[in-house]
Amino acid sequence: MSILITGGAGYIGSHTCVELLNDGREIIIADNFSNSKPKVLETIKELTGRSFRFYEADICDKSALERIFSENEITEVIHFAGYKAVAESVKFPLKYYHNNVCGSLVLLEVMNAFNCKNLVFSSSATVYGMPENVPVSEDSSLFTLNPYGQTKLMIENICRDLCDSDGDWSVTLLRYFNPVGAHESGRLGEDPNGIPNNLMPIILQAAKGKIPELNVFGNDYSTPDGTCIRDYIHVVDLAKGHIAALSAMKKGAEVYNLGTGKGYSVLEIIEAFKRTNSVELPYKIAPRRPGDAARCWSLPSKAERELGWKAELGIERMCADSWRFAELKMSDADS
Ligand code: NAD
Ligand code: WQD
Repeated sequence: MSILITGGAGYIGSHTCVELLNDGREIIIADNFSNSKPKVLETIKELTGRSFRFYEADICDKSALERIFSENEITEVIHFAGYKAVAESVKFPLKYYHNNVCGSLVLLEVMNAFNCKNLVFSSSATVYGMPENVPVSEDSSLFTLNPYGQTKLMIENICRDLCDSDGDWSVTLLRYFNPVGAHESGRLGEDPNGIPNNLMPIILQAAKGKIPELNVFGNDYSTPDGTCIRDYIHVVDLAKGHIAALSAMKKGAEVYNLGTGKGYSVLEIIEAFKRTNSVELPYKIAPRRPGDAARCWSLPSKAERELGWKAELGIERMCADSWRFAELKMSDADS
């Protein structure tokens, strides 16, 4: 009996695989390396001292998924595989709808055919759009601002319809806030193919001198220091949230916020990063980025109440672990 991890070579997936293996679970990873590297699989094995099956497969490829299900006894799926770059989704919407929505549909069809009806899905705080009130709870209103967000909401709705139609399905929709940080060994972290889009990978590049400076997108928002506030969560806490979700699975569709419940502004993150790591971080104030909400942080109490899960690692660990990973990775790349 195994858990299939789609997108398990990626940032959140790889950390979740480490936690699952350390928890004694049997896993199988399927990934097409569109945004990750094969080396991650070896690192997961070295960090855990455990082995697992891997399939280089695209979730849009039905016959590849059928092969995985016919060769293994899969009882649950944690579904990370998807594209996640907001700006790219605006430029190439079909690419995003195809990979994220069609890929999820194919996965659900194959799961159904093999009578595997337990799913944990990576949703996102992006489904809250520009929240009018913070913190956002699971029943805050949903609104999407870009094709990426649409794909997450569409997949959530597909899962809800599926659970309504067939009482044997259990689907846990996890809405992640802003994942940052890395494994404490410094050997796993966020290592996207291509140019990063999110704040922490860009901070790492600026601190390393790979880019001249960080652009702070807007300092005229209605927040105490004028910069946007987000709920940054350590990726290891997030990974542990998946184990809690698997253990608490019940019939029907359930949704949980995975966040810390605490917001930090961009300037606070910059200060925390400099202070924690004793490094310089050049930045300048730049124009607002279209589509950014001024404030977004979670009410995470449902996950604490029902999953028995709570984020434990604070902002210093997020900054220190991110930096350790960057130092190792970037010195690797230089050598
Ligand atoms: P990631 O890009 O690091 O990982 C995704 C993995 O899926 C990659 O290894 C990629 O190669 C793989 N993949 C993509 N399309 C695939 C396909 N068709 N078939 C097989 N493999 C495929 O991203 P991540 O940050 O680890 O995010 C994981 C999930 O969590 C995504 O669904 C993302 O939308 C969601 N999410 C991420 C964030 C974030 O900020 N990182 C926030 C909320 C939700
Ligand atoms: C954080 C803050 C920027 C870069 C996105 C997705 C969301 C989820 C997480 C997947 C914002 C500011 C950023 C920079 C900056 N992903 N910033 N300079 O936009 O909150 O969320 O990633 O589901 O769906 O929308 O995250 O890391 O891009 O930005 O000032 O160079 O950092 O304006 O306030 P965001 P982010």
